[in-house]
Amino acid sequence: MSVPDKVKIVEVAPRDGLQNEKEFIDTAIKIELVDRLSEAGFPNIEAASFVSPKWVPQMADGAQVMAGITRRPGTIYSALTPNLRGFEAALAAGVDEVVIFGAASEAFSQRNINCSIAESIARFEPVAQAAKEAGLRLRGSISCSLACPYQGETPVESVVDVARRMLALGCDEIDVADTIGTGTARRVGEVMRAVTEIVDPRRVSGHFHDTYGQSLANILAAMEVGISIFHSSVSGLGGCPYAKGATGNVATEDVLYMMHGLGIDTGVDLDAVVDIGQWISGHMGRKGSSRAGNALAARKAA
Ligand code: HMG
Ligand code: MG
Repeated sequence: MSVPDKVKIVEVAPRDGLQNEKEFIDTAIKIELVDRLSEAGFPNIEAASFVSPKWVPQMADGAQVMAGITRRPGTIYSALTPNLRGFEAALAAGVDEVVIFGAASEAFSQRNINCSIAESIARFEPVAQAAKEAGLRLRGSISCSLACPYQGETPVESVVDVARRMLALGCDEIDVADTIGTGTARRVGEVMRAVTEIVDPRRVSGHFHDTYGQSLANILAAMEVGISIFHSSVSGLGGCPYAKGATGNVATEDVLYMMHGLGIDTGVDLDAVVDIGQWISGHMGRKGSSRAGNALAARKAA
């Protein structure tokens, strides 16, 4: 099995993990979550979204979250920015990286950001330019890279086409996202191979929702193709408001347990992440969905 010595884990719980929660989560809790994740050693945390509060009310306090956190030197704090207005708010809030997010499926693009793929790229152009001028990192996320909740399986060429356009916009990193988690290892390998024909694999990440329990296998398949950046969410929190039934990202505890077992360096303290997972799921009144997290927490309690 070919695996890298080191991977970058992007912790997305404060954004992807929380955005779908119906009950508004206090800003203080969001700040504590980001701070505890920073202390656990994550090199990159998706901390906020500067989207329309009418579309995603839970993310309305992004500026306050960014203002309240304690920045850990060396951690990149990212935020979603669908348009120039979002970019300006993110810049004012002091984020290190902005994320433009499109889709490889027309139907999902319409549902999620209310425009076609071509329109979204035109909307991202000024954001990308402004990000470059401000010296911020720019990441591009491609939803429905495996399948779409409205259109079914996504042709590989559609993913490559959006990746090419995001590369042309100057994206430093490109996320291949399995929004609904239906992808299986062979197809993930195919999509990653195709994308890495045009994008340096060191700049491609895997963003896998774990709806069908395939994420760890999909991460292994992606590592075989040379991918070494993965997104995960503590305690498996999350889901997308525009992909009904899709569950959270693969749980960070499970990913760290696998990576460390494979001898891969993540720089993240799994023990601390287990505690964070138990704390945040307890706060939300439910049992966390990380298998490794729950097992390690039970062992600690014994
Ligand atoms: P729209 O309605 O077409 O645009 O929405 P608009 O320009 O007509 O704006 C509508 C209202 O929102 C206006 O307010 C704007 O001012 C306001 P009104 O005049 O009605 O009072 N507005 C904003 N407010 C704050 N910040 C902004 C902003 N922009 C407009 N930046 C828009 C278009 C893109 C804004 C909307 O569709 C939107 O915000 N969508 C976000 C959806 C979203 O956040 N989805 C979840 C994140 S993506 C995801 O989870 C997938 C990912 O994890 C990868 C994967 O798993 O697939 C990344
Ligand atoms: Mg997602």
